[in-house]
Amino acid sequence: MIQDADFWEYLDRLVAESRVVIDRPRLSPHPRYPNLIYPLDYGYLQATTAIDGGGIDVWLGSLPERRLAALALTVDLEKRDAEIKLLLGCTADETQVVMDFLNGASMRALLVRREAELDFLRTRRSVRCFLARPVSRTILKRLIEVATWAPSSHNCQPWRFAVLTDPQARSRLALAMGVEFRNALLADGLSENEADRQVEHSLARIQEAPAAILLCLDTSQGAPYPDRVRQRAEYLMGVQSVALAGGHILLAAHLLGLSGVWLCAPIFAPEAANQALALPPTWQPQGLLLVGYPAKTPPKSVRRRETDIALFFEEQGS
Ligand SMILES: Cc1cc2nc3c(=O)[nH]c(=O)nc-3n(C[C@H](O)[C@H](O)[C@H](O)COP(=O)(O)O)c2cc1C
Repeated sequence: MIQDADFWEYLDRLVAESRVVIDRPRLSPHPRYPNLIYPLDYGYLQATTAIDGGGIDVWLGSLPERRLAALALTVDLEKRDAEIKLLLGCTADETQVVMDFLNGASMRALLVRREAELDFLRTRRSVRCFLARPVSRTILKRLIEVATWAPSSHNCQPWRFAVLTDPQARSRLALAMGVEFRNALLADGLSENEADRQVEHSLARIQEAPAAILLCLDTSQGAPYPDRVRQRAEYLMGVQSVALAGGHILLAAHLLGLSGVWLCAPIFAPEAANQALALPPTWQPQGLLLVGYPAKTPPKSVRRRETDIALFFEEQGS
């Protein structure tokens, strides 16, 4: 990955030190194939050399910041050459338009995205609405296996999972947690009708998801410290480790084309959740992941800027 970052930074330097010349503006026809219309400004970096002897090709999008977010590798059977083309300041739609343009006639193109893995992390969403399509045991086992690669305190791997595809097991769990949820809502002063409505909504979500994974902490796994302070720290590290495993599952699901959402319900009713499924007594439920194929993926939610949430302690002059 470090080498990857270096590669893009070197290209950034080349772009920053070059003038972009647009010799084929957007909507102009191709000189040899007049039916081919350039969908975006197309040109080259002045005073650079590409394989065809000209400058390095550039597609220029509409984003004001001309960030280099991707490049296209092309192979042309007619010209019998291969090239790279830089995509500067292109939106996702513009990138697609460029790729459609390049994948025509005698040419094929491959898109190399910058920091594709980071974009993958940015595109995970909490999905609450799933297709009826079942999630296979193979996939669920793979999600659990990937979860075991999360970090954990002393590598004690205190996570435990109840994997629920059986609708009856999910109903038992949902109903048991629902009783506690309803009592809490009534204690908050909600009317019986409103409490019932909220509980029904929660039950329906759990019942309608094709699969659910109850994330548990095995409380027997931590180091046996004699004092309360370290016992609490050990417990918290266990909870943190389980949360990391849950995060791994959500990301792995995203990678496999599935989606999920973390529901907090079990943390409010851990004993009821444990008993509903007759789990080992040391398994303390922490959260419930609903998993399935997304029916509707919510749009990007707002994120705080990194400069608002992090303090950077930097060496002077760095
Ligand atoms: C510990 C935890 C508990 C959550 N509990 C719930 C929940 O009970 N119900 C729900 O709909 N979403 C729940 N979520 C999902 C968050 O609402 C969601 O992550 C957040 O709104 C950001 O949206 P995104 O995941 O799509 O980026 C929970 C997430 C976490 C990490």
